[in-house]
Amino acid sequence: MSNKKRILSGVQPTGDLHLGNWLGAIRNWVDLQKENETFFCVVDLHAITANYEPKELSKNTLSTAALYLACGINPADSTIFIQSHIPAHSELCWILNCITPINWLERMIQFKEKSIQQGNNVSIGLFNYPILMAADILLYQADLVPVGEDQKQHLELARDIAQQRINAKFSKDKSILKVPKPMIMKDGSKIMSLIDGTKKMSKSDPNENSRINLLDSPEIITKKIKRAKSDSQIGIEFNNPERPESKNLLMIYSILSGVETGELENQLSETGWGSFKKLITELLIEALEPLQEKYKVLIDDPYQINKILLDGKEKAESVANSTLSKVKKELGFFK
Ligand code: TYM
Repeated sequence: MSNKKRILSGVQPTGDLHLGNWLGAIRNWVDLQKENETFFCVVDLHAITANYEPKELSKNTLSTAALYLACGINPADSTIFIQSHIPAHSELCWILNCITPINWLERMIQFKEKSIQQGNNVSIGLFNYPILMAADILLYQADLVPVGEDQKQHLELARDIAQQRINAKFSKDKSILKVPKPMIMKDGSKIMSLIDGTKKMSKSDPNENSRINLLDSPEIITKKIKRAKSDSQIGIEFNNPERPESKNLLMIYSILSGVETGELENQLSETGWGSFKKLITELLIEALEPLQEKYKVLIDDPYQINKILLDGKEKAESVANSTLSKVKKELGFFK
């Protein structure tokens, strides 16, 4: 019997993917795909929970799928698909809506933060967002969900729904849904904003200088790092809580160079911000170049990406539909 784990994760196609998405999530997916059964979706239904441009949605969806491939997700090892291509996601979401207590959702930190950003234009979809995410995961009976730190609470909700609201309530002796575990990397699971080291790097930050996008040109990367917040001290430190920007850039430098943070701290103890910024700029440009080259080739051939996505849809749909049928049967739907 195969002891491969089932893995599922996704990214929203809202604007460009950034360094946090890559270092906190997609990098991990690439490492996991050889040894496991991996499903990666572009979660376009999540992307409409905030204001969006219809013209941009399909463009961003295609571009996100191309970025998955450019980052090293291999369709020979992984199933890559678009969430809205599989209606079972929305259908399971509705069923889960009806069995999840409202106060579980009222606790969600991301909802609170995003609803402040969106002012008086907050949709029910934004509130329900974590339930759709639970449906994404539970439909595939995933063992593990590789995500950044910010998604931990959503994963706990998915676990509680599966365990307490489905398995415990609707089945005495067997489990209907697998209870998934979050998989959060030690390094890179919370990459911070370049202009405020106490805030997460985020696609929704209105200030473009707060993040490095994966498709930023060398000129833009140079400009953003030049403008990145620094402090007046010499030496780049990792463990000084007074210097969050130093810690964040050192973490990025460590992941990209493969050198431990402790060793880097020693190497950079006499280095000033100007020199360090030059070093990290070079490293970022060098790390992103191969990915950007692959992306350029891929995005020029949408036919090829479509083929991969159609194939992915077929594989994902058969797993999703089988779970949905099982849930509907156990919950008493007439067949
Ligand atoms: P999204 O699109 O906001 O982010 C995609 C992934 O990137 C991680 N991430 C970060 N990691 C480190 N540092 C950061 N600054 C940073 N910003 C984002 C996120 O944790 C995530 O892993 N709700 C999800 C999408 C989703 C999903 C799912 C994920 C929908 N359904 C099912 C897993 C399984 C989200 O908004 O991701």
